[in-house]
Amino acid sequence: MSADLIASSATKARQLTDAEIKEIEHEMELYPDKQAVGLEALKIVQKHQGWVSDESMQAISKYLEIPVADLESVATFFNLVYRQPVGKKVILFCNSVSCWIMGCDDMRAHINEKLGVDFGGTTEDGDFTFLPVPCLGDCDRAPVMMVGDDLHRNLTAEKIDQIFTDYRSKE
Ligand code: FES
Repeated sequence: MSADLIASSATKARQLTDAEIKEIEHEMELYPDKQAVGLEALKIVQKHQGWVSDESMQAISKYLEIPVADLESVATFFNLVYRQPVGKKVILFCNSVSCWIMGCDDMRAHINEKLGVDFGGTTEDGDFTFLPVPCLGDCDRAPVMMVGDDLHRNLTAEKIDQIFTDYRSKE
């Protein structure tokens, strides 16, 4: 390994925090083996760090003694593990069939215009990341989106305006 590569892997090292370890240890009591805890560990680190960096991935791998490649597979399959920095709140916007029938394309365009971002984007102020997701399981109240942990149903342009005004007033 070249000196540059050694230096770059050294700067990439990260330790899990005590809080992350405590929560991962708790999950380890509930699962049969360390491999099975991988997804929960990714979610725990994401909850604390906002996203899962390469450094975090390596730290989880080292702690659970499972290959980074295995964790990467889990993260790829479970598309709500964020492998890039995201905004303070993630908007998970359903664009499956019921929401589409109920006009989610217009709501998407409204959010795009209001926040200046489309799917995959993060607002310039870092407040929101806007992502599409499959059905959120509340089809009879479509269109539906989540902002952070909050589910918002029967979306209209006026409702969306109020939702973002409320979030920004809480900052
Ligand atoms: S299709 Fe959007 S919540 Fe089910």
